[in-house]
Amino acid sequence: MKKIEIKEGGRTIGMVCVGQALSEVVPLLDGYPAVYVVHDMNVRDKAADLVSVLSGSGVNVCGLMSVEAAEENKNMDTAMRICRWLMESGAERSALLLAVGGGITTDMAGFAASVYKRGIRFAYIPTTLLAQVDAAIGGKTGVNLDSYKNMIGVIRQPQFTWLYPEVLTTLTRRDFLSGAAEMLKTFIISGGDCYRECVDFLGSLNLVPGIAADSKDGFESFLRLNQGRLSDLICAAAAVKAAIVSEDQFETGLRRRLNLGHTFAHAIEWYERAGGTDCALSHGEAVAVGTVLAARLSEASGVSGHGLADRIADNFARCGLPTACPFGLDDLEDAMNKDKKAENGKIHFILIRNIGETIEYDMTAAEAVALLKGAI
Ligand SMILES: NC(=O)c1ccc[n+]([C@@H]2O[C@H](COP(=O)([O-])OP(=O)(O)OC[C@H]3O[C@@H](n4cnc5c(N)ncnc54)[C@H](O)[C@@H]3O)[C@@H](O)[C@H]2O)c1
Repeated sequence: MKKIEIKEGGRTIGMVCVGQALSEVVPLLDGYPAVYVVHDMNVRDKAADLVSVLSGSGVNVCGLMSVEAAEENKNMDTAMRICRWLMESGAERSALLLAVGGGITTDMAGFAASVYKRGIRFAYIPTTLLAQVDAAIGGKTGVNLDSYKNMIGVIRQPQFTWLYPEVLTTLTRRDFLSGAAEMLKTFIISGGDCYRECVDFLGSLNLVPGIAADSKDGFESFLRLNQGRLSDLICAAAAVKAAIVSEDQFETGLRRRLNLGHTFAHAIEWYERAGGTDCALSHGEAVAVGTVLAARLSEASGVSGHGLADRIADNFARCGLPTACPFGLDDLEDAMNKDKKAENGKIHFILIRNIGETIEYDMTAAEAVALLKGAI
């Protein structure tokens, strides 16, 4: 099993482990007197397999609860439901909450564990690519408030995050690509070689003939065949995120780089939800569009040379990701101003100097939109 540590001042505060067989989780749970499992209902079979392996190996699994992974359920009601279930199941302060699912499940479960009895320990087994390379690493937990994403939450590290690439073979192509967008974003921040390898790998997905966006046909076997290559990319992306979190756990500086594309992405998601419709783009797809917009803003503000944005847009399109904003730039401005990352009217935009090199650049939403209008 490969291990990536998250450190703070020389002290290990978190651990990302990449394994291959379910039984490898057992030693990680050594010493926890009671384990409660909360899982995404779409992975109930995998959660049941896990519980059977854990119980058969002497881990004291005291309860199993399912949640529905949908942004409209990522709220205080669901977090309260998890807390109430823990209380009614008799969970004590020594308990560990183990979350099995994608980023919605890990964010909500991590938050519930962080506030239940003023905080119990928790750990993650992420089951989407997005959660494996991003959401389940670094300790950001939280829920949405009305149509605002992740407005309520805390930063608190899981005891461990256990990555198990084989679990991804049941994802739809669209959910897989959503995570791929976060992986590409990570490599644009740090890791030019990995970025190129990732584009090549994802580009070859288009070689699988005749698969619709939500289909699993052909895709599962593709992932099985390419598991080694995928696992290496996941490890590399997890290592980049772990290194950045180690430098700046509470996002006072460097960690903000991980928000590349997210100011635009959150604005796109907010605008679509506030309009009363479910977001047509997944989170990762919105990040892909947001990263291309960040690249265009980088060119327009002189941070990068000409051609970078088109190159990134071409790469993303080759990977099957969307690259164009689904509505006009004027509509983005108001949504960006509502983003929780705006301070004194200025937003910390992350701009791209080159693949593998980003900088922070503060400006208002109006300034950004004016520059973008000149560039698009
Ligand atoms: N905490 C952080 O640092 C952080 C970072 C990035 C994103 N996020 C959050 O993560 C969330 C998005 O995460 P996500 O994309 O994993 O979404 P998700 O949890 O909704 O999962 C996407 C879909 O895949 C299904 N699914 C999960 N595992 C599966 C599997 N193995 N096989 C088949 N289907 C499976 C889910 O049921 C869901 O329908 C957003 O709410 C976002 O805000 C958090």
